[in-house]
Amino acid sequence: MGKVVLVTGANSGIGLALCERLLSHDAQLQLCLGCRNMQRAEAAKHALLVSHPKAQVSIIQLDVSSVHSVLRAAQEIRHRYNRLDYLYLNAGIMPNPHVDYKAFYKGLFSGRAIHMFSTGEGLLTQKDTLTSDGLQKVFATNLFGHFLLVRELEPLLCRPGCSSQVIWTSSSNAQRSAFCLDDIQHKGGVEPYSSSKYASDLLSLALNRRYNSQGVYSSVICPGLVMTNLTYGILPSFLWTLIMPLMWLLRMFTNTFTLMPYNGAEALFWLFMQKPETLDPLAKYHSLTSGLGNNYTQPRKVSTDNYVILTLCLQHPSPFPFHFKMDIDDTISSALYEKLLALEHTVRMKLKDEDLGHTS
Ligand SMILES: NC(=O)c1ccc[n+]([C@@H]2O[C@H](COP(=O)([O-])OP(=O)(O)OC[C@H]3O[C@@H](n4cnc5c(N)ncnc54)[C@H](OP(=O)(O)O)[C@@H]3O)[C@@H](O)[C@H]2O)c1
Repeated sequence: MGKVVLVTGANSGIGLALCERLLSHDAQLQLCLGCRNMQRAEAAKHALLVSHPKAQVSIIQLDVSSVHSVLRAAQEIRHRYNRLDYLYLNAGIMPNPHVDYKAFYKGLFSGRAIHMFSTGEGLLTQKDTLTSDGLQKVFATNLFGHFLLVRELEPLLCRPGCSSQVIWTSSSNAQRSAFCLDDIQHKGGVEPYSSSKYASDLLSLALNRRYNSQGVYSSVICPGLVMTNLTYGILPSFLWTLIMPLMWLLRMFTNTFTLMPYNGAEALFWLFMQKPETLDPLAKYHSLTSGLGNNYTQPRKVSTDNYVILTLCLQHPSPFPFHFKMDIDDTISSALYEKLLALEHTVRMKLKDEDLGHTS
């Protein structure tokens, strides 16, 4: 039986590009597309089957922002498969983004242009809303729904004598300054996206601490700056088209402007081929594209604080050049994990009460 791979947010952008790459690499794969919209999912499946007519591609309806949908989808996945080798937690949103145009134009002609474009730092805020479960939507989509999915799929991921990988599509926009342990849903801030991505970096570390002994390994990646529906929501497409020549030019000096979904999926694809035991739980794996268009993956930590980078490099010598660690630690990661468990308990109790209410 071929390896079983589940990709959330598989119907567009980086998720769809990853599916293409995985099927080109391994024709025996059993690929499951986890998507909220069935029409878009069918279109993606059709596109994949056009290029890979013999591929085994299935669809699971999964809205990661809805607790009910995650529980139902997980039940269906447990019913369909008896193993899960790769779980790509890729679905993500950045709703109602607001660009600080003053900072944008100022940064465009400054020495910080590359850093600004690569991380969105100081540039992006979002307006969040609530889900029907009463959770902050960005948190529920980018983090909590995926957390619940991992917990629900534990029996398929943890199999004696086998290893499995959980791989998060994080971002360079994951900033420690946007995250607060007392407000993990980011109710009181204006950078829910950055907070949720930083939380996914923390959660990945916590999953490694808890599940490595059971053969489950978690990693985070940054796809770089990629032109997808998500980025077209930040700036209108005409503006991206206008600044595209500049981006191609800047690519000669930085490698984080991956630009195409195929390039952005590089680190996700690279991780598929690694022995998970060899991966560093403290590293973020970056998809990078050189000025000449060559794709590669590098574990690194982008930071403006060179002193921090240098200190971390010296503290953690590694086989990779420029092997920077993420700005995370075990204490905060473990505290977040406990808070997520508590929230999971509350949410499950609420669902139980609602079910009882419906039957009585
Ligand atoms: N593009 C970039 O430069 C960039 C940079 C850093 C990180 N990322 C991350 O990369 C990941 C993929 O994004 P993308 O750039 O490829 O954008 P995209 O084309 O908009 O893809 C996002 C995917 O997530 C799905 N999704 C959103 N909400 C969902 C929900 N509640 N349940 C299930 N699926 C849901 C979308 O489905 P629908 O089609 O139904 O909306 C879509 O398939 C995201 O996690 C994003 O944060 C992107």
